[in-house]
Amino acid sequence: MAGTEEVKAVGAILANPKESLTTRFRALFTLRNLGGAEAIEWISRTFEDDSALLKHELAYCLGQMQDERALPILETVLKDTTQEPMVRHEAGEALGAIGNPKVLDLLKQYSEDPVVEVAETCQLAVRRLEWLSGGGGQGEEAVDGNPYSSVDPAPPAPRKSVPELRAQLLCETLPLFERYRAMFALRNLGTEEAVLALGDGLQHGGALFRHEIGYVLGQMQHEASVPQLRAALERAGESGMVRHECAEALGAIGAEACLAALRRFRGDAERVVKESCEVALDMYEYENSGQFQYADGLQRLRGEHLTIGGAERQDPHSLRPQKQRSPANPRTVCSLPLVGNMLHPVMIAIVTANTSITVLYWVFILTELFSKRINAEAMPRENPA
Ligand SMILES: [Fe+2]
Ligand SMILES: [Fe+2]
Repeated sequence: MAGTEEVKAVGAILANPKESLTTRFRALFTLRNLGGAEAIEWISRTFEDDSALLKHELAYCLGQMQDERALPILETVLKDTTQEPMVRHEAGEALGAIGNPKVLDLLKQYSEDPVVEVAETCQLAVRRLEWLSGGGGQGEEAVDGNPYSSVDPAPPAPRKSVPELRAQLLCETLPLFERYRAMFALRNLGTEEAVLALGDGLQHGGALFRHEIGYVLGQMQHEASVPQLRAALERAGESGMVRHECAEALGAIGAEACLAALRRFRGDAERVVKESCEVALDMYEYENSGQFQYADGLQRLRGEHLTIGGAERQDPHSLRPQKQRSPANPRTVCSLPLVGNMLHPVMIAIVTANTSITVLYWVFILTELFSKRINAEAMPRENPA
């Protein structure tokens, strides 16, 4: 288990502007996975940094942790107009993700914010909280087929065909909440057809909508989306918020076809894009390495270098423990912060002992059955009449 000292040491890495951005990202996702008041404290104090990319990810992580102790700092960030729109957007979304209705009035107030991305985010968060208070988070809808364990800004739409969901996704007269519902339903379907339908969304709607498409495609990590993601990253005049999300998605996919674009835009004039490409290249490296865990702040601290070829790995950007090989997308929360501890000799001994007992048990049962059958065959049969 990670102790207070370790949380403090990982927190100090996150808060240290002299550390590389990629190391700080990994520290952030380690803290998110660890959770607790102290982790929140370290994440909260880093909002004074000058990297919008890092700060928006802080807010994202606080939302995914769903810990109400993060509400005050998220409220402060949403209200702070000196913070970049992308950071305030993520704070608003995180307030919705935590799910406490006491922030409803604040979110309604900022639903009128002059920054359209902030206003739309708050409108979505209001809809989510209203959906939750109407019982939406319970029963069937609570088990919504989200394989990524992420807390999304909208629940998925009820099951429909891909063409129907695509039409709902791209219909610009529908409320954003309904379009998001189609987006998450398509993501949960996970087919190539669904990926391509989502990719079409990269050319429709406002920047907030398009950036969420990039995020979802990053979660899915399907190679079929690479051409559309690359085109959005390369598109002249595209919003930095969208390009950032597409860059990270390409890094999470980690295919050869992503590499050239990421290298090219690592020198982009827009800081958030440039930094996203740096982080994406680190994800790419993780994706193509034998590293066991992206959020490896504890392992780095302990001087452990866990590399396991083909073993189940952690997905850092999402909590995505369902995939056999958990890839680099810090947007899918991984509930395995201490996965390295699974390799502890005691754990190995327990697993080995368990396996041996199971094997012995089955050998015993099968031997019994076999000998009974032989005995039965050896005995003279009784004729019924
Ligand atoms: Fe976002
Ligand atoms: Fe983002």
